[in-house]
Amino acid sequence: MKILALSGSLRAASINSAVLRALRTLAPASIDVCLFTALGELPLYNPDLESAPPDVAIQLRNAVASADALVIASPEYAHGVTGTIKNALDWLVAFERFVDKPVAVLNASPRACHADAALRETLITMSAKVIEAASITLPLPSANIGDADLLAAPEIASLLAEVLAEIESAVNQSPAMKPYLDSSLYIDSQHPAIVAQAAKLAESCAGEEEIAKRCFEFVRDEIKHSWDYRLNPVTCKASEVLIHGTGYCYAKSHLLAALLRANGIPAGLCYQRLTIDGDQPPHCLHGLNAVYLQQYGWYRIDARGNKPGVEADFCPPLEKLAFPLVNPSEQDLPGIRAEPLPTVVKALTENPTVEQVYDNLPDFITTNQ
Ligand SMILES: Cc1cc2nc3c(=O)[nH]c(=O)nc-3n(C[C@H](O)[C@H](O)[C@H](O)COP(=O)(O)O)c2cc1C
Repeated sequence: MKILALSGSLRAASINSAVLRALRTLAPASIDVCLFTALGELPLYNPDLESAPPDVAIQLRNAVASADALVIASPEYAHGVTGTIKNALDWLVAFERFVDKPVAVLNASPRACHADAALRETLITMSAKVIEAASITLPLPSANIGDADLLAAPEIASLLAEVLAEIESAVNQSPAMKPYLDSSLYIDSQHPAIVAQAAKLAESCAGEEEIAKRCFEFVRDEIKHSWDYRLNPVTCKASEVLIHGTGYCYAKSHLLAALLRANGIPAGLCYQRLTIDGDQPPHCLHGLNAVYLQQYGWYRIDARGNKPGVEADFCPPLEKLAFPLVNPSEQDLPGIRAEPLPTVVKALTENPTVEQVYDNLPDFITTNQ
């Protein structure tokens, strides 16, 4: 995850800049805190410059666009925000990638309440999402301290670590991620059986990667592939797959997505179009998953179940899927879907036996064929 840090002070010995550098030092490997240090080079904002913005404004906008979240620490000048930070925000008013951006506001001075309130008002007006849980006033002993003093103060270091955790959690819940965390008809992650199984799998795990691995291995190894084992009933909803212990690849991917979502880990569905047998048509769809891991981003996993010749595994960032694409007619369908394809749902809900599903495996003809 990438956090862009903006300091509203240009002073070399700025406490606000020091706070942001301390935040960068404390960030775990999964979070990249990047300080934009050229705010002082931005010309005063003038809408007339929009037709050809200066390079430094383009750099700022690119940095905002590529960041998952922003953190701003700015002093108060004469009961207002500093010109530095206001000017930077003015350059972002017309920039649509700023809209809905999660932003944390850090206040390095308990005395400075006017600027803090004004900054939030500006951010809200610009349609940013202020992360309240990560927006705090730091109880600093003095304004004349540097990075090392901040890091050596356990209370400050622990508050900054919490700020990072809250930003991470807000990014996971950002509007773009919401569909991949939602419970739905087929990925019913709020079903009591799913919630209980998800909690059991997360027990004593050190972090999201270990939880994701456990969920993957459970679905791959404990849920039997309906065709490999010729097992009825035909399942589609995640909870049905869990309760009956069986599912086709598509249904197993619904269960894995639900278990991950129930643990607050974004998960989606992916499809491949493969030949059913050998290298000739007919083709059918194969269902698998993508999980969003803080450290690596989206990562595809395939829990259809291993068997001789099929060795799928969870080893991020290395992808180890069940089926490589072996001939030109096979393809990865583009995109990560929050919900199953209608043709998949139709195959699983309109065919009463696993044999009938096998005779009517879903296919998807893309326009670029
Ligand atoms: C021009 C100016 C105006 C200031 N006005 C205020 C103010 O209204 N309220 C306040 O609490 N501090 C005010 N201060 C103090 C700064 O907020 C304080 O020195 C802060 O630590 C500066 O941040 P920095 O160390 O990141 O540069 C002012 C400082 C300057 C230079």
